[in-house]
Amino acid sequence: MTLTNILNKVKTDIELNHDEIITLLEVTDPEEKTLIFSLAEALTLHHLGPEIHLRGLIEFSNYCVRQCNYCGLRHENYHLSRYRMTPEEIITTAEQIADLGLKTVVLQSGEDLWFTQEIIKEIILEIKKRTDLAITLSLGERRFTELEAWRKAGADRYLLKQETVNPKIFAEIKPDASYEKRFAILEQLQALGYQVGSGAMIALPGQSLADLANDLIFIRDQRIGMAGFGPFIPHEATPYGHLPGGSGEFSILLLAVARLVLKKVHLPATTALASLVPNGLYRAIQVGANVIMPNMTPLKYRKLYQIYPGKAVTSLEKVMETIHSLGRVVGHTQGDVLVSRICSNSGE
Ligand code: 5AD
Repeated sequence: MTLTNILNKVKTDIELNHDEIITLLEVTDPEEKTLIFSLAEALTLHHLGPEIHLRGLIEFSNYCVRQCNYCGLRHENYHLSRYRMTPEEIITTAEQIADLGLKTVVLQSGEDLWFTQEIIKEIILEIKKRTDLAITLSLGERRFTELEAWRKAGADRYLLKQETVNPKIFAEIKPDASYEKRFAILEQLQALGYQVGSGAMIALPGQSLADLANDLIFIRDQRIGMAGFGPFIPHEATPYGHLPGGSGEFSILLLAVARLVLKKVHLPATTALASLVPNGLYRAIQVGANVIMPNMTPLKYRKLYQIYPGKAVTSLEKVMETIHSLGRVVGHTQGDVLVSRICSNSGE
């Protein structure tokens, strides 16, 4: 099938199959890329409007029990000094985020079991009491009872990236994790009524375009509400420090193709992409991103949240400037997901 035929299928709202998605990911010709990019931008405006939703990110602990081979926060990275914000620090930072006019706070950390069910629950209750923020949790793989208690306490969303749907690669990159368990947790989150975000890394060892096409199809078929795709960036203090990282230009193409395949799904301009591509935020919005997570972690901790080197600083000022320079606007609502298993919106 030719590129024109595939793009016409997208325009007439016919689902793309695996081969067609791969064909899009194989495009290298600049003119063909431009066709994909402009359709991605048009679809974003059509399905999601001009709004870019801002989520204030608090990276509140860099302790982690896991051994993921790609990640600088892995337990065995003894070169990293570890920090943990206190619950009160987290809550006051959330208040500052609300005072700035943002509508969502993302609470992210390594898998840090110091933050028990009760402690996280108290933080959620207190943020809900003091602000009108939507709360997104990004705390890794936690027990069903914990996820349930946090949802009951008022957490709205949960981010848990699949990282890859290829079970062999998953086992390689996350040696102490279980593929089945991770996907079971994603289902539990949906059943609990969380708005669920997932996503994958680009250029993992052994990963093919067919694998990435499967990652997109997984998000589409499971009706995941948000999906982050970012290039793998090697971190020298990890077993994958010597591997080649993802290409920035390919990551932009993948984001555009994600918009073609996923239509109404929220797509963030990931920090990894912004770190790798000059003007990465600008370019990501141009090809379909509609969510940005400005980093609101207190400055004294920020440099210690070293998932990978050269992490971009997505300050609120820079983000606003970028949005306005593209003629887009900041979302004034909580920017709930439009795709989910449970509720259906806009006639879906
Ligand atoms: N390069 C790029 N992205 C990474 N992540 C973790 N380590 C790396 C890395 N070395 C991403 C993963 C994780 C998210 C918090 O950051 O997708 O889910």
